[in-house]
Amino acid sequence: MSDLSYESVSSGFGEAVREQFSVEQFHYLPETDSTNDDLLNRIRSKKARHLDLVVTDLQHQGRGRRGDRWEAPAGRNLLFSLALKLEEPKAIWCRLPHLAAFVLGKAVESVLTMSGKIQAKWPNDLLFDEKKLAGILVETILVPEPYAVVGIGLNVNVRATEFPEELRAIATSIYELEECESSRSFLLSEIVSGFVRCYPNMLTNFDEVREWLHSRSVLSGREIEVVTAMGMVRGIGAGLGEDGELIVNQGDQGNKSILSAERVLFR
Ligand code: BTN
Repeated sequence: MSDLSYESVSSGFGEAVREQFSVEQFHYLPETDSTNDDLLNRIRSKKARHLDLVVTDLQHQGRGRRGDRWEAPAGRNLLFSLALKLEEPKAIWCRLPHLAAFVLGKAVESVLTMSGKIQAKWPNDLLFDEKKLAGILVETILVPEPYAVVGIGLNVNVRATEFPEELRAIATSIYELEECESSRSFLLSEIVSGFVRCYPNMLTNFDEVREWLHSRSVLSGREIEVVTAMGMVRGIGAGLGEDGELIVNQGDQGNKSILSAERVLFR
C-alpha cells in the first residue's frame, strides 16, 4: 500500500489550496511508463484541467531532459507531473522552469535539518554538495489548449547503493543527507501548495524567484561552459536575467544572456 494518497497529501493543505486541488485532480498510478506522457495524453484528450497531478511509485520509461532516461527504484522517490494552464502573456512562459525549481527547492529546504544550502543549477536542477537531488522536465502543449506539464523527479528515500553505478558519485537523496526517511506525501503537499500559491504571481512577482535562485546558484562566479544550439558560450556565471535567462560574463565582450541550453558545465 503506497503512502501517496489524496488524503495523505491534502492533510498538509491550507484552506485556499484545498479549494483549488480536489480529489478529482489527484491521479495515483502504482506504476506507469512516464507521468509526463500520462498527463500530456490526458490534456490531448481534454480530460485534464489546471493543477491535475499524476503521481506514481514506479516508472518504466521515465524521461529526463535531452532524451535521457530517469530511473528510480519502486516506492522510494517522488515521481510526478503537474498540469499548469498557460495564460497570456506568452513572453513569460519561459519563467516556468525557474519557478518550478524555486517551488521544489523551498519544499526540500523545509524538510532539511542539516546545515548547508540547496544549490540551484540553471536552468532547473537542484543539487546538494554539487550532487543532483532533483530534476525537472517542463513540456508544453498548445493544442487543444496551451498547457505546461511540469515533471519532477525528486530523490527522497533512495539509498546511495541503489543508484546505478555511473550516478553514485554525482547524485544524492534526502535520505543520504538526513540519514533517515522523509515523508513523500508531506513533500508533495508542500510542492503542490507552492505551485498553487506562486504560479498565479509568475508575472508580477518573479523577482523573489530570481533572487532565491541567484543566492543558491552553483554557477555564480564560476567558470562555465554552456552548450547552446548556436554553439559554445564560455565565461563566468553572473546571475539570472529578468525572465530567468542565464547571464554569462565574457569579460571584454560583455555579458551574454542565454535563454536555453543543451548542457551547462562548471569548474
Ligand atoms: C532531468 O533530466 O533532470 C529531468 C528529470 C525529470 C524526471 C521526471 S520523473 C516524473 C516525470 N515523468 C517523466 O517521465 N519525467 C519526469
